[in-house]
Amino acid sequence: MEREIVKEYSNGELTVVWKPKKCIHAAECVKALPEVYKPKEKPWIQAENATTDELKAQIEKCPSGALSYYIEGEETQEAVALETKVEVLENGPLLVYGTLKVTDKDGNTETKNKTTAFCRCGESKNKPYCDGAHVKAGFMG
Ligand code: SF4
Ligand code: FES
Repeated sequence: MEREIVKEYSNGELTVVWKPKKCIHAAECVKALPEVYKPKEKPWIQAENATTDELKAQIEKCPSGALSYYIEGEETQEAVALETKVEVLENGPLLVYGTLKVTDKDGNTETKNKTTAFCRCGESKNKPYCDGAHVKAGFMG
């Protein structure tokens, strides 16, 4: 299996965790905190330009789980058992919230936490999950 790419950016207190392969739309986060997310610069996430509360509020809105965070010195939080909820993202994936046990077409089982984005457009290279391909494919629905 391919190793997932994970990058971390800290503001000294909170560390932003970024998993590029999970991102499902281009730049919602950039719209919310342009002083932090600068796609044209390196590093593209400049966590020190926002407060811990600002970062928390914005990261909790990332629907794909591409962005997450942890606080320095705090135990990594175990996934809180959430109510299972399903939501259709217009022109994008099906979002399922909650702890899920997903079995793929080959019978492999994986546990997913928090938010899982399932491909609705058929173009994902990482089915059954969304990999952002719907944007390029111009999927409508
Ligand atoms: S999925 Fe998350 S990381 Fe990707 S653009 Fe949307 S908010 Fe940003
Ligand atoms: S819905 Fe996102 S790749 Fe298909």
